[in-house]
Amino acid sequence: MPHVVFIAPRFLENTNRYVRAFALLEGVTLSLVSADPESAIPESLRAKVAGHYRIDNCVDASALAVAVRALADGVGRVDRLAGALEQLQMPMAEVRDALGIEGIGSEVARNFRDKDRMKDVLRAAGVPVARSGLATSMTALRMFIERVGLPVIVKPQAGVGARATYRITSAAELDALAAQGVVPTESKPLQVEEFVHAREHTCETVTIRGKAVWRSGTRYFPTPLEALESPWMQYCVLLPREDENTEHTKFHPVNDAALTALFGASASTAAGTALTHMEWFLRDDGTALVNEVGVRPPGVGIMPLMSIAHEADLWEDWAELVSFDRFTPKARKWAAGAAFLRGHGGGDHIVAVEGLEEAVAAAGDALVEIRTPKVGMARAEGYEGEGWATVRSATTDGAKQALLALIDRVRIHYG
Ligand SMILES: Nc1ncnc2c1ncn2[C@@H]1O[C@H](COP(=O)(O)OP(=O)(O)OP(=O)(O)O)[C@@H](O)[C@H]1O
Ligand SMILES: [Mg+2]
Repeated sequence: MPHVVFIAPRFLENTNRYVRAFALLEGVTLSLVSADPESAIPESLRAKVAGHYRIDNCVDASALAVAVRALADGVGRVDRLAGALEQLQMPMAEVRDALGIEGIGSEVARNFRDKDRMKDVLRAAGVPVARSGLATSMTALRMFIERVGLPVIVKPQAGVGARATYRITSAAELDALAAQGVVPTESKPLQVEEFVHAREHTCETVTIRGKAVWRSGTRYFPTPLEALESPWMQYCVLLPREDENTEHTKFHPVNDAALTALFGASASTAAGTALTHMEWFLRDDGTALVNEVGVRPPGVGIMPLMSIAHEADLWEDWAELVSFDRFTPKARKWAAGAAFLRGHGGGDHIVAVEGLEEAVAAAGDALVEIRTPKVGMARAEGYEGEGWATVRSATTDGAKQALLALIDRVRIHYG
């Protein structure tokens, strides 16, 4: 029986879907590492957990190594180390290297985590990406802009959630950003990229030892950056009904080339067994560029959407994939979508929510689940808002209409 160690770090609703999937998977010995105490493991799953080790900080590679070593000593040799969060990927890779656990080591993990290196690796493999560089000074940043022209995007080298990501359209904006303290230095460089005018899509790919065996894709609208720049915008993700002969299918060869390049020489090993989340741009002229790739299950509600669209439980499927190198491709049954409900106005908490009942009525049968934003809730930091809804429909347009029905009617006010 493979011994799988899953890193929680906290037993929150979303994380518990993964914990549950591993706990219920036949033929696996499961151990958990978390920052939460053992008592926080969901009661119904506790009997299935062979070992638990608590550390204060799960992204600290040396603490993680102590935990995994202790579980190896107490429970048995560790065969797989798994975690769904982006911030865990580097420390997990370091622990695999240190303890000789199969899977992604730090060389490969860096290809996915360091945005500058990722783009270099992709470019070298002939995969289309935006012109980019790592600026270590204001002079270097200005030189990049001179070469590539405005607008540009400036973002952290290892970003997440589009935080600290800025579009710069003028010299004045660059100065304003610098005045705010956003200045690249040797020790805190900034990723700078040519601004791509395009629609944003995702491509979720299951690879087994480097070979793609299944894909699913979504479209973001508006883009995460636009959603952050315009806090009143409600943000949606749409997973289309069609899984053949679409702009997504046309992207598959690029997706293949990109993953092959990023997995590198490790592709045909356990390191090449993954569910990856690729964000890519589709320009009006039909050309595609890869933006970035996470070697982890997708966020922004895409796991639920994939589960709805394929009448599957993608958490269980991922657990099976990483534990056994096994995945059963799924047929698309529905189009699905997620709407992230965000507020208007200033203030740091919700003071009013309007239109919920009308929105639910208008979405009709398409509505799968809704998490309603409530008065008193703190304003959410990211583009995912304080509430969300998922929908499904037999047609892509049906799902789109249901999303519009929701976001046109729900009005959240901050105060
Ligand atoms: N070169 C670019 N051209 C145009 N828009 C960009 C570019 N790079 C990033 N963006 C915008 O900024 C958003 C965040 O950038 P990116 O995905 O690289 O960072 P992130 O912090 O990893 O985001 P997330 O965790 O939300 O996926 C993108 O989804 C896109 O909307
Ligand atoms: Mg991104």
